[in-house]
Amino acid sequence: METPANRVPAHIAIIMDGNGRWARQRGQPRLAGHEAGSETVRRVLNYCRDAGVRYLTLYAFSTENWARPPAEVSGLMALLGAFIAKHERELIERRVRLRVIGRREDLAEPLRQALTRIERATDAFERQLIIALSYSGRSELARAARRIAEEVKAGTLAPEAVDEAALAARLDAPDVPDPDLIIRTSGELRISNFLLWQCAYSEFYVTPVLWPDFREADFQAALAAYAARDRRFGGVGQVAPCAGGGGT
Ligand code: IPE
Ligand code: IPE
Ligand code: MG
Repeated sequence: METPANRVPAHIAIIMDGNGRWARQRGQPRLAGHEAGSETVRRVLNYCRDAGVRYLTLYAFSTENWARPPAEVSGLMALLGAFIAKHERELIERRVRLRVIGRREDLAEPLRQALTRIERATDAFERQLIIALSYSGRSELARAARRIAEEVKAGTLAPEAVDEAALAARLDAPDVPDPDLIIRTSGELRISNFLLWQCAYSEFYVTPVLWPDFREADFQAALAAYAARDRRFGGVGQVAPCAGGGGT
């Protein structure tokens, strides 16, 4: 069944988890799982395009992931570089804007340069792919707080002007709307330091499917679950008038 357009999330964010377990189940090294996971990224870009999702944020590498064994970290960084090189032209042809959020200063210079080049080449496009790289919600918030402190110190921002909007404006991609739907694969019921500010009213969907196995039917199941949710934002939502509740 088709999902009505107004019930399609404008922004989906995904915690792509379970690559290591996928590889272990097959007796393969963890990196084989990451390789298979990067194929899923390609597929999910197509699902989003077909469904009319305007923003897709992918949690690719957390600030905590640097603590993994060095061979896994360098393998993951190499895969990222290869993915970017392979899809640069496709992103431009498909008019997808690439953006990176996170501590980009942690990334190796060649990867950083490649990312910046594609960001510039695609910055006029409307549909967006946002990659969270060396990202964590706490580090993003701490950086926003530091920017505010610097502006207050310089006298360009009054302490009384520091409110929710001022903080939101200093996040890594301030113009991107908050995610409507956050999907996590591999069954883990935690946020793992992802988009802590932006997830305030996101709907969560967790599937036991491991990221390399995530396919269109799993994506459609997430969209269907989202379409059935009653988002209340602290209000009372779409409640049916109760019988005898007064009125007509
Ligand atoms: C997600 O898969 C990819 C990254 C965190 C980079 P994992 O590598 O976390 O896979 P599991 O959780 O060990 O199965
Ligand atoms: C979250 O997955 C980070 C990414 C998907 C990049 P992790 O596998 O690192 O999270 P934890 O350790 O299970 O919480
Ligand atoms: Mg994991």
